[in-house]
Amino acid sequence: MSGPLVLVSNRGPVTFDEDGGAQRGSGGLVTALTGLASHREVRWIASAMSDGDAEVARTHGGRSFSVHMPGGGEYHLRLVVSDPQAYDRFYNVFANPMLWFIQHYLWDLSNAPDIRREEIEAFEFGYNVVNEDLARAVVDELADEPEPVVMVHDYHLYTLPDLVRRARPDVFLHHFIHIPWTQPDAWRVLPSRIRADIFAGLLANDIVGFHTRSYRHNFLQCCRDLMELEVDFERGVVYFGEREVWVRAYPLPIDHLATRRLAQSERVHDFEREVQRRRRDFMILRVDRADLSKNVLRGFSAFDLFLEQHPEVHERVTFVAQLMPSRTDVPQYAEYLERIEALVAVINHRHGTPDWMPIQLKLRDDLEEAFAAYKLYDVLLVNAMFDGMNLVAKEGPIINERDGVSILSENTGAHEELGEYALSVNPFDIQELADSIDAALTMDPAERRRRAQGLVEIITSRDPGDWIDEQLADIRRKPMAKSH
Ligand code: F6P
Repeated sequence: MSGPLVLVSNRGPVTFDEDGGAQRGSGGLVTALTGLASHREVRWIASAMSDGDAEVARTHGGRSFSVHMPGGGEYHLRLVVSDPQAYDRFYNVFANPMLWFIQHYLWDLSNAPDIRREEIEAFEFGYNVVNEDLARAVVDELADEPEPVVMVHDYHLYTLPDLVRRARPDVFLHHFIHIPWTQPDAWRVLPSRIRADIFAGLLANDIVGFHTRSYRHNFLQCCRDLMELEVDFERGVVYFGEREVWVRAYPLPIDHLATRRLAQSERVHDFEREVQRRRRDFMILRVDRADLSKNVLRGFSAFDLFLEQHPEVHERVTFVAQLMPSRTDVPQYAEYLERIEALVAVINHRHGTPDWMPIQLKLRDDLEEAFAAYKLYDVLLVNAMFDGMNLVAKEGPIINERDGVSILSENTGAHEELGEYALSVNPFDIQELADSIDAALTMDPAERRRRAQGLVEIITSRDPGDWIDEQLADIRRKPMAKSH
């Protein structure tokens, strides 16, 4: 493997506005991969998601161009424009909600989903079309590469690997999935033909990577039970035709140095003063995309219950919830946002006083504002129903300055690493969550410190460079391993 690394994902490292201004792409995937530029030469292929992206792609004639990242580093980026209707079906119908909901157990199966023509066509004329568009760009980008390696990212691109493999049988394909992999029955929602296409696409990879051992296990189980393939759970191998597909767990670390650097920026300090000014004795914080999987409503219901059961803390505690609106063209997400606002209004009305608003809801995507709050929380609440990793659980503790306690859902990927030093909760158990808020706020200072230090130690023990190195080591090792 000598050439540059080719990355392909739906969301790219930056999005452009109509005036050509670049903003860092949001979410865990971008956070994970942006550190890579300093690690080795990378060519990143992504969808043009906004009108500004499409404009920039056209300006560069659909070819790659160099981008300087807002936080440093340089990428060669190629933005691929798909037909808008196909892209809408891909993103707003099939990837979200269909796959996202399957992979977070979000479907309320007695009510939804109905699989009709709309969903089938969203797969055929949306999901597949965008995968084909990106696959063509990948193949083009590999034209002169002697030993091409492509790293594919996430659930948007399950059918792409097979397309690339057909065009370039010599390619090494590594696919990392940033979200949970659910157990076989969750996948039975999909018509078997679509399911088969998804698994055939994924099994065209050489390696499929997940954040945790349990997602790896679920994937192997799906290959065995849904696709009737031979699998080796111990070695993490699926035997697919003549090929072996390795299935691995690579838990994603955060770039703790960059995170701490950003925490010292002037803008973060400005926000900090504002947070200090408004805070009461205790501050509970959550920072999330406004996504159903994050379990925002149960978090507020637990706080409501906590206030009901602990009148002694009234007027002394505030719950700051910074939620970034996300995927708002998907009806389920738009409705979720409305339910969040309505519930906050009810709780604030129920417990609030003329000068105390128990929940402060900030519906915006502002990393520096979130970082200021990270520094000052007493309790960090991460109660996702299911979450691939959850980087908030890693970012908060390493810049918090108050020995804040983490309340962490046992169904997040981060729990496999951090559970020992967090207060673990079952995300569906509202009473347990309310009790954990009380336990966190009344915890002995020495115990708070012990837990906070334990979290910092684990989180700072690896960085994204290690994460990539582990994957690259397997990429080098696999061709040398004896094939089945
Ligand atoms: O891994 C999940 C992911 O793809 C991450 O990039 C991020 O957490 C989130 O989803 C972003 O979603 P979107 O690209 O739809 O805004």
